[in-house]
Amino acid sequence: MATDIVILAAGKGTRMKSSLPKVLHRLAGRPLLQHVVDAAETVNDANILVVTGHGAEEVKSGICGDRLRYIEQMEQLGTAHAVSQAAPLLDSEGVALILYGDVPLIDSETIAGMLHKVSDRSMSLLTVELGDPTGYGRIVRDDNGQVMAIVEQKDASREQLQISEVNTGVLALPSHCLQEWLPQIGNENAQGEYYLTDIISIARNAGFQIETLQPQSIEEVEGVNNRLQLNNLERYYQKQQAERLMAEGVTLADATRIDIRGNLQTGTDNFIDINAVFEGDVLLGSNIKIGPNCLIINSTVADGVEIKANSVIEECQIGNNAVIGPFARLRPGTELAEGVKVGNFVETKKVRVGKGSKISHLSYVGDAELGDNVNVGAGTITCNYDGVNKHQTTIGDNAFIGSNTSLVAPVVVGSNATVGAGSTINKDVPENELGLTRAKQRNISDWTRPSKKN
Ligand code: UD1
Ligand code: CA
Repeated sequence: MATDIVILAAGKGTRMKSSLPKVLHRLAGRPLLQHVVDAAETVNDANILVVTGHGAEEVKSGICGDRLRYIEQMEQLGTAHAVSQAAPLLDSEGVALILYGDVPLIDSETIAGMLHKVSDRSMSLLTVELGDPTGYGRIVRDDNGQVMAIVEQKDASREQLQISEVNTGVLALPSHCLQEWLPQIGNENAQGEYYLTDIISIARNAGFQIETLQPQSIEEVEGVNNRLQLNNLERYYQKQQAERLMAEGVTLADATRIDIRGNLQTGTDNFIDINAVFEGDVLLGSNIKIGPNCLIINSTVADGVEIKANSVIEECQIGNNAVIGPFARLRPGTELAEGVKVGNFVETKKVRVGKGSKISHLSYVGDAELGDNVNVGAGTITCNYDGVNKHQTTIGDNAFIGSNTSLVAPVVVGSNATVGAGSTINKDVPENELGLTRAKQRNISDWTRPSKKN
């Protein structure tokens, strides 16, 4: 059966105090609305209709997904009014599910459960028991425990305010019912808004059964209205991620000091020290040690690698048993083979480094190809940029580059070649030869140091 998922995202988010539309604020590196869209996309073939309003254009360009359509709600007259904007686009033969763009942690299993409970005589409603239900719509049940209506906080009687079961806003029903019932909703209530929650009593009158479901956690249905709530959900999300990692065989120095903003896949027996941040798609092998304060973005790290403190690694492939850092910066396109060592204050970019090669200290190596067992001395720089174009440096197997060398690209240092310390190499060095550019040293024997004037 066709499924249409309507995501309400027209609200302004005044309490965020931000020029950015609320649903574009990020949780774990992804916009709030993106989380909801991604959860909706787990439903096979579902059409996703996003109702935008404030910052509609910005929202559209900030979110990605297939099967995504946008409808603009020009004025925010209430949740029923918002859904009405999308109603003509629904497939009348199918089922419609309503989600909120500012409730980011909705789970795909909950969504599936909600859709499963819909039939020609029943709709589903996601409710939750709250210790403090203030502000939420209350679920009113009859003596048999059947849901009769939802009453908003501002319209509730004193008795109804005691009810702790509240509306999460998530509901699902046959689309043709939604299309028929929405026009029956008025705005004669305390807020003068068109309430989607009125659909419940209309459904009851039509002889519908209201099936209620509960989320797996309260956080799953919590909305973001201000930055404190955003942070609470961020911390909850990160805690879940940390617990998953530990369950998968990773030791964390501190489960509250790791942040995963994307997809982290990991093997076993890895140790991650404090303040590691992972962004995008990161794939870790096994037996890896990551020191404190490391940032790893869209990279693959093979077994046995050690990444020492304060290293930044982006779009790299790190081979088995490589040792990196402390204070290394590996920029996009860095590919390190097995056993490579990249030490402190070394920056690499678009470089392939062969097995067992070492760049141990204070170097910049960019646009380069290094063979196996190359030794790059401290302070070596590939001068890859002439101010207009980038050029390539190639270094053969077993070459030895003396400290403080400038390799002016394009240039080739052959295998087994040696470059003397302090050289500026702008011509190729053939295999097995020594390349050296160095002014002769002169010692002055009768020289005295200047002394201080009186
Ligand atoms: C709504 C429910 C309430 C529920 C609560 C859960 C109604 C009438 N009330 O109340 O029962 O307990 O959510 O959080 O539905 N929106 C639009 N266009 C509009 C109005 C709202 O897109 O015209 C969007 C908002 O951006 C937001 C969502 O709908 O994402 C909910 O709207 P909001 O005004 O926050 O509803 P509540 O008063 O919190
Ligand atoms: Ca709300």
